[in-house]
Amino acid sequence: MNTPVLHRSPSELFRPAEVQPLASDVSWRERTRTLRDNPLATIPASLLKQTYLSGPFMGRTVHQVSGPSEVKAVLQDSFMAWRKSPLILRMLTPILGDAILVAHNDSWKRQRMVLQPAFARRKLDRFIPLMVSAANQAADRLGASQRPIDVSEVMNDTTFAVIERALFTDVEGFDRQAVRQAIEALLVEIGNVRYSDLIPFPEWMPRLMSAEGRSARRVFRTAVDAQLKRRRRLDDPEEDLLGLLLAVRSETTGEGLSDIDIRDTLMTFVAAGHETTAIALTWSLYLIANDPVCQAALQQEAEGVIGRGDVQPDQIASLSLTRQVIEEALRLFPPAPVLGRRAIADTEVCGHRVQKGDMALLAFYALQRHETLWDHPAHFDPDRWTRDRRPTDRYMSMAFGGGPRACLGAQFAMTEASIILATILSRLTVEPAHGVVEPVMQVTLRPREGMPLVFTPR
Ligand code: HEM
Repeated sequence: MNTPVLHRSPSELFRPAEVQPLASDVSWRERTRTLRDNPLATIPASLLKQTYLSGPFMGRTVHQVSGPSEVKAVLQDSFMAWRKSPLILRMLTPILGDAILVAHNDSWKRQRMVLQPAFARRKLDRFIPLMVSAANQAADRLGASQRPIDVSEVMNDTTFAVIERALFTDVEGFDRQAVRQAIEALLVEIGNVRYSDLIPFPEWMPRLMSAEGRSARRVFRTAVDAQLKRRRRLDDPEEDLLGLLLAVRSETTGEGLSDIDIRDTLMTFVAAGHETTAIALTWSLYLIANDPVCQAALQQEAEGVIGRGDVQPDQIASLSLTRQVIEEALRLFPPAPVLGRRAIADTEVCGHRVQKGDMALLAFYALQRHETLWDHPAHFDPDRWTRDRRPTDRYMSMAFGGGPRACLGAQFAMTEASIILATILSRLTVEPAHGVVEPVMQVTLRPREGMPLVFTPR
């Protein structure tokens, strides 16, 4: 099948909302306020024109990078010289323990080797029916609303339903509602940046959890521990992710995962996979709502590929334009717009010296809108992801990270997002509800006031 092309000139393209960078001469007080309110606005506008900048921050040198070679230098070429940022580790460790997202060295390597096979493409097919069912429920809910509806909320519920059911299909004795509330409370605990977080505490100093956070962690852990005990007693592990985690063995040592590893991994999959995918879908729907030509082509694709029925596993590869739209949404609004790393050895980034203890900020948001790297970078143009035109440098599109620690769930997320988007567009038309949309980084890149859109059945 040919990849669909919309063939439009830049003047016909939609220019979506963008982050307004802070002026370089604002007061220290204003800068600190912005760091807490929307840290992305503190990334200098000059990183859209150049690819490297360095300067001091709270006693450390910070290297800010927005070019593919610079990002590759940190994530791939000198991978061993860098660790995740102390702030991220301090925020996540109380909730995720030593799970793959925060682990380093041998612990990370062992988990990556053991978990990677669970995300192989052929293993994902088993999750497609539950993605389809969640997609239909989302379309029912959006189509039933007579008024503008906040899609970010609906997408959050939808991707939560998918990951929860992918983790535990069989939930005897499991209070879904209580666990969902506990997980939401834990995600809020991670998402709230406090003023004290701006102080460069060392990574071993735990970040204090709120009483609600501690109680939510207890509810989550107790529920998962009970499921683990129950499932370990069954001979036949289910085909869900929990079953896969119970069954995985290291190819070299034959060792499996401990109950604590599994519990922390389950929480990690929810933390890393649920909101990121919901945000990607929210921005995709915003872009489509504002681009009627693209929307009509997507509807035609959905109708041609899936007709009026449910998406089938062998149809997903044919949803090419749907995929291009999601890739373009991930370019303009990467759910993780900046990653932080700390150097644990002297190293270099494309000829710039880096000393042990320095920080690197990988500004994917700036890289993916860079004025020297992309044509009409601020415009929504799904054509740039056709087979012939897509960038050949893998480090141009960084939404899923890169190097050995790139996202484990990228296939899962792209499959899920394609199914949900195609299902919604096969049944509904979407239009914008108001003109003011402000992207704000609160761990992920969210629309500040939610994303109200208007849906009508076709
Ligand atoms: C659109 C959706 C998603 C986006 C944009 C996304 C983005 C990312 C990024 C940028 C990283 C690298 C973090 C770093 O290097 O510091 C990452 C890592 C990771 N992601 Fe995703 N992710 C998504 C969906 C998912 C899903 C659905 C899952 C699991 C079900 C998942 C599981 C993970 C895990 C386990 C890691 C850690 C990998 C490692 O450290 O070896 N992600 N993700």
